[in-house]
This record gives sequence, structure tokens and C-alpha cells, in this order.
Amino acid sequence: MVDGSRQYVSTFIAGFGEMVSDALKQKLANVVVETLLDGLILYRSTSPVGDVQKLRFANNSFLSLRAETHPTIDRVEPIVRRLFERADLAPAATVTAAKQVRTFRVIISKENATVAVDPALLAGVEKKIAHQLKLTVRRALPDVEFWFLLRREGLCFFGVRMTALGKQRTRKYAPGELRQELCHLLCLLSEPSGKDVVLDPFCGSGALVLERLHNFPVRHILAGDEDPTLVATLQRKLARQRNVTVAQWDARALMTVAASSVDKIITDPPWGFFKGETIDFALFYTEMLAEFARVLKPGGLAVILVGRKDEFAQALAALAGRFEPLKEYHVLVSGKKAAVYKLRRLT
Ligand SMILES: C[S@@+](CC[C@H](N)C(=O)[O-])C[C@H]1O[C@@H](n2cnc3c(N)ncnc32)[C@H](O)[C@@H]1O
Repeated sequence: MVDGSRQYVSTFIAGFGEMVSDALKQKLANVVVETLLDGLILYRSTSPVGDVQKLRFANNSFLSLRAETHPTIDRVEPIVRRLFERADLAPAATVTAAKQVRTFRVIISKENATVAVDPALLAGVEKKIAHQLKLTVRRALPDVEFWFLLRREGLCFFGVRMTALGKQRTRKYAPGELRQELCHLLCLLSEPSGKDVVLDPFCGSGALVLERLHNFPVRHILAGDEDPTLVATLQRKLARQRNVTVAQWDARALMTVAASSVDKIITDPPWGFFKGETIDFALFYTEMLAEFARVLKPGGLAVILVGRKDEFAQALAALAGRFEPLKEYHVLVSGKKAAVYKLRRLT
């Protein structure tokens, strides 16, 4: 253990464990990963709470006050009792001392579902937290949450949640808009560089474009969609950005994009769930990949989130020789099975 390190837990989109582990080591100091589960990582770092709160690829992050492994989590109450008895509450003050934090609640989660415990046990936990950290219990919309989280694999921790403190509300998303955490991971996967010309040919609301523009260096971003309303909205939003061009187009025929002019494609093609879409996905993906091969520079990267893995595999086979598949991640997006492919354009 590095002196002065704290123990943290971050949750993330299932399927991205390896990437999240690498990203933590890039963003935080002296990271030691203690346990990596699907969608959850327990680690130590000497970085302060504020740096962990800023991680854009984590769904939630916690300062851990006690973590243990149990052979079974069938009986919740003895585990909660034991974690609490052995926890040191004092470090939680680094989170709860923020001036917007006055009220709290306790959440007990077993296998990703909230569970109830003996009211006397809960009351005892609440009383001690309230007294020691000078907070007031508020079970609806509190400023901060203390979590007991028990995972099927046996990892159990008690910690204070560091995300969405005080009046910070959880962000609202438009239908089909990708969440910030996923956009950030897809951008990271594209190995961002300030020299990049980046293309998102299915930009929709522009979530990927905005994430790349505001959180990574970039030379120019080309974005477009076939839907004129979405295009007009994004054009308005980005009117002052000189290094972003937004156009209406069919992504299978990008007339305004020159051959071999793009360094990175980061995109989320249609999934077939909206507007009664009836798409021959194998054909659609094949035409799309052929166009991506034309506009990408040799060696350029494409990071593509797809909802139809089988049809994408067929399209990739049809384009064999144009792309080298580098990575494939199987992920869950809004409860739906999906995959992320990272491809390199061959010369
Ligand atoms: C899954 S959504 C992308 C959502 C986007 N990532 C976001 O966060 O808002 C796919 C988008 O592709 C667009 N689209 C469908 N077919 C297209 C085509 N042939 N060419 C360009 N855009 C197309 C749809 O209008 C939709 O906005």
C-alpha cells in the first residue's frame, strides 16, 4: 500500500473493465487495483477525492470506508453490522464537509438491488453517521448517500458516494442519446490526439462529438446525420466552434468527406429500435464500412458501437483486407446487449 493512499470504488458500464482499469492508471496517481469485477473496480490511489469525482467514465464513485470479501452474501445483516463496526467514518468528512452536504441516507444494495434491513440496525447506523459527521437523515433526495454494497462474487464494502452531491441532479438524456460515461470510454478507445480529424457520421444529438470536443484535444470534427432536425439543432449548439462541421448526409455516401482524410471515426450507427426502422443490417453495415474504409487514412482507427453483432461480423468478413480488428468489447447499453469494435484501416 502506498502511504497516504485512499481506497475507492467506481462502477462502470459492464464489459469495459480492462479499459477502465487502464484509464484509472492514466488519470489518477499511484493506482493499485485490488479487485476488478464486471462493472465495479476497487482500487487504492493517492489522488484526492476531487480527482476521483471528476472521472467521466465512471457511473458512480465511492470513498470506501471498509471493504471485505465474504464467502457468501446470503445473510445481509451480519455483513452490514460487521462492515460498519470495522469502518473508520472519519475519512468520509473529506466528502461530507462540502458546504452543500447537510443531509444523508443509507442504502443497502445486494446484487444490484436495494434491500431493507432490521430498522433497529439501520437506525443505529444512521445515528452514528449523523453524530460523527454532523449530518441529518433525509431518506428522500438527500445531499449524500452512504452505501453498503454486497456483490454476488463476495466483495462487500461500506462507503460514501462521491457523485451527484447536494443539489447536483442526475443529467437528463434525450431518447437514444448515449450516456457521458460511454461516450468518454469510446473517445478514450480511439487513442485521442490533438492532431486528429475525427468523424461521427451518425451523430444524432451529438453526444460523442461534444464529449470529444470538450474533454480531449482535437484538430477538427466532422459530424452528420440523415435527420435534418438533429443536424440543425447540433449546428445551432456548435455555431461558435470553428473546428466542428455538422452536415446532413447518408453515412454510406459521405460526398463531402475526401478519401483518406480522417484519422478517427467514433460512432454509434442505428440500432433499429426507432421510427419503425426496417434495416437489412448486414448490408447496411457492409456499405457503411466500405465508406469508412474510403474516408479513413491508412492506419486510421474506427471505434463503432453496434447493436447487431452477428450482422456486423458478416460485414467485417465482407470487408476483410480493409480493416484489422484490434479489440472487441461485449457490453450492456441500457440493458441491451451490444458490442464495441475497434478497427484499424489497413494500407
Ligand atoms: C443510434 S443513433 C446515434 C445516437 C447518438 N450517438 C446520440 O448520442 O445521440 C443513430 C443515428 O443515425 C442516424 N441515421 C440512421 N441512418 C443513417 C444514415 N444512413 N446516414 C446517416 N445517419 C443515419 C439516425 O438519425 C440517428 O440519429
